[in-house]
Amino acid sequence: MQVYSNKALSQEIIDWPVTMQRALMLAARVMSAAPNPRVGCVIVCAEGIVGEGWHSAAGQPHAEIEALRMAGNAARNATVFVTLEPCAHHGRTGPCADALIAAGVARVVIAGIDPNPAVAGKGIARLEAVGIEVAHLVDFEAAAQSLNRGYFKRRQFGRPWVTCKLAMSIDGRTALANGTSKWITGGEARADVQRLRARSCAIVTGIATVLFDDPSLTVRPAELQLSAEAQQVNALALRRQPLRVILDSKGRVPANARILGDGTGVKVYIGRESQAPSGLPAAVQVLPVAANRQGVDLLSVLESLASDFECNEILVEAGSTLSSAFISAGLVDELIVYIAPKLLGSDARALFEASGLTALTTAPQFELADVERFGNDVRLTLHPQYGKSD
Ligand SMILES: NC(=O)c1ccc[n+]([C@@H]2O[C@H](COP(=O)([O-])OP(=O)(O)OC[C@H]3O[C@@H](n4cnc5c(N)ncnc54)[C@H](OP(=O)(O)O)[C@@H]3O)[C@@H](O)[C@H]2O)c1
Repeated sequence: MQVYSNKALSQEIIDWPVTMQRALMLAARVMSAAPNPRVGCVIVCAEGIVGEGWHSAAGQPHAEIEALRMAGNAARNATVFVTLEPCAHHGRTGPCADALIAAGVARVVIAGIDPNPAVAGKGIARLEAVGIEVAHLVDFEAAAQSLNRGYFKRRQFGRPWVTCKLAMSIDGRTALANGTSKWITGGEARADVQRLRARSCAIVTGIATVLFDDPSLTVRPAELQLSAEAQQVNALALRRQPLRVILDSKGRVPANARILGDGTGVKVYIGRESQAPSGLPAAVQVLPVAANRQGVDLLSVLESLASDFECNEILVEAGSTLSSAFISAGLVDELIVYIAPKLLGSDARALFEASGLTALTTAPQFELADVERFGNDVRLTLHPQYGKSD
């Protein structure tokens, strides 16, 4: 396989970087293709683009197949830009590498190598074995990985990508002393949370939030505020609800909790020594794991979500107790904080439950990755700098 950087490609007739950028844009149109990665594909011949496609949902044709369908005979001798190495195995659909070979393409340009052991390198090898040139556009590797950060994390580390979301007042409070937190932020920020949920494979919450707020934690397509085009592109993906996951070490979840619904897609992690909660809908899955004084073992929960339920990305939507436990354990990949211009007072619940810090240099630190306004609220996207101090 040849490895190319953008700089070396300035003499080419086809603009490789622009075409790969387009393939990445196509892939990103879908909010989630979980448990599969999001992939885009553009097929180009001397006359220009002849085929385009993206993977719209698990079980649907892969991006390469969609693009080949559009290109028809024009795919012969064409160059194929695809954001991830074509698959070489039989999953829910046939191997894309075989379809590209059958279509007679001349060259395949990829942005990233698939970390799935069933694919990694095998798709490339299969193409090269029949004389198809494979080029790796390394400058797009990071973009290809970040597009599928959860898929890469699960395949490489056996755990999902963890986003933790909290809403707080400007004095850093997440609920009133009496527990009320509905609603700290306004409608636009809450629509953004709906979009975070739609991208996630599971929404994880603590039993105290279930008992106090009685949330449903579902995706409600009408509240996503998507454009008509985005609604159409995501129609299949939005048929899937993320799993709803309750961390409930003592098995206290009541049978009439709204989050349980009819039980479909609901997982309750309890301590191994605890009694399973009674009277729950039959479809609810109760999963005993190791537990300690704090609650269930968070690493075991994450590993189970990745291996038992193929979760690529999860969203922690809990109160400060569970959110702080995830942060303190170094298990959060991204922290999203919505700040509402309200003051809740010093007896209200803090954002982060920890005490005893004596030096600012040892305080948990974050890199500010993004700031965006939603109505009257602000969203901070933060990346933890675990192990870093001033
Ligand atoms: N502002 C916001 O963004 C936001 C979001 C959600 C909720 N809230 C508010 O937050 C309040 C509830 O928050 P909370 O902090 O009391 O509860 P929480 O974080 O939702 O849930 C905490 C409970 O989860 C269970 N748990 C299981 N495993 C755990 C572990 N490893 N580490 C920590 N906890 C674990 C524990 O109960 P067991 O020991 O019984 O297992 C624990 O008491 C409510 O007032 C709600 O309105 C605010």
